[in-house]
Amino acid sequence: MQRISSLAELDLWRGRLHGETLGFVPTMGALHEGHLSLVQLSLDRGAKTLVSIYVNPTQFNNPEDLAKYPNTLEKDLEMLEAMGCDAVFLPTAEMLYPEGLKSRAFSFGCLDLNMEGAGRPGHFEGMATVVTKFFELIQPDFAIFGEKDYQQLCIVRHVVAEENWPVEIVPGPIVREPHGLAMSSRNLRLSEVERQEAATIYAVLSKVCAEAERFEGVEELKSHCVEALNAVPSLTVEYIECCDEKELQPMGELDPKTPTRLFAAVQCGNVRLIENLPLF
Ligand code: PAJ
Repeated sequence: MQRISSLAELDLWRGRLHGETLGFVPTMGALHEGHLSLVQLSLDRGAKTLVSIYVNPTQFNNPEDLAKYPNTLEKDLEMLEAMGCDAVFLPTAEMLYPEGLKSRAFSFGCLDLNMEGAGRPGHFEGMATVVTKFFELIQPDFAIFGEKDYQQLCIVRHVVAEENWPVEIVPGPIVREPHGLAMSSRNLRLSEVERQEAATIYAVLSKVCAEAERFEGVEELKSHCVEALNAVPSLTVEYIECCDEKELQPMGELDPKTPTRLFAAVQCGNVRLIENLPLF
């Protein structure tokens, strides 16, 4: 596996591909099975696969979250090497932001009005800034994004379509721990008790999705989730939202004919967890 730590090395590696398909998986490291499943998707397509590891400061609206972001670089590199990843790009802030840590301006339509867009000001601008910078530098044929961050996936798709980037955006399904908690680098910061209690998030939401018809309407369904989750000692719900899958707008009523997802952000101890599941 090629370790790429400068823009000159990146150009050299990119130049040696001679027309082979290039798959790109952007990450912030502290890799787990969820990240690795995206790398595997790229390898399964027969593509040369490049993973980036970079904790992007412009997408953090909470300085403590940035400061505490886990770093397991040596283990990450071993895992990527073991699965046959072709290259890993380890940029510095100076390479990506030579003129300082500033976000670009974007129009995300209505996709950033709710949920993470409302709760984390500047988050999606920072994310889209680093992703478009990566696309410029790496020029991948396709890039893989997990459905774990569903709103991020929709926003990246939108930016690519708006700006005519010649890159295919490929979604990867959510990978979960055996008891259902969506894998996340931030799970490393949960205590054993918090980890067990966090599993309730999936238990409650998946049951609600399976039994959606028993609720009178959206508000009753959401209140049920909020009450069930807030009853768990370490959990505090930030939001529960039912949105259509395309525009991510809150649904006024439960409509099995409209593809809909149930979204949640829940504080578990000091860790903020996000989750989403298909409802209809
Ligand atoms: P990060 O949180 O490291 O996630 C990198 C990719 O892994 C994202 O596409 C995310 O959706 C996916 N992922 C995380 N947990 C997953 C899981 N349990 N199952 C499937 N996929 C999962 O998302 C980011 O980094 C950043 O915003 C980034 C795109 C790298 C830009 O800085």
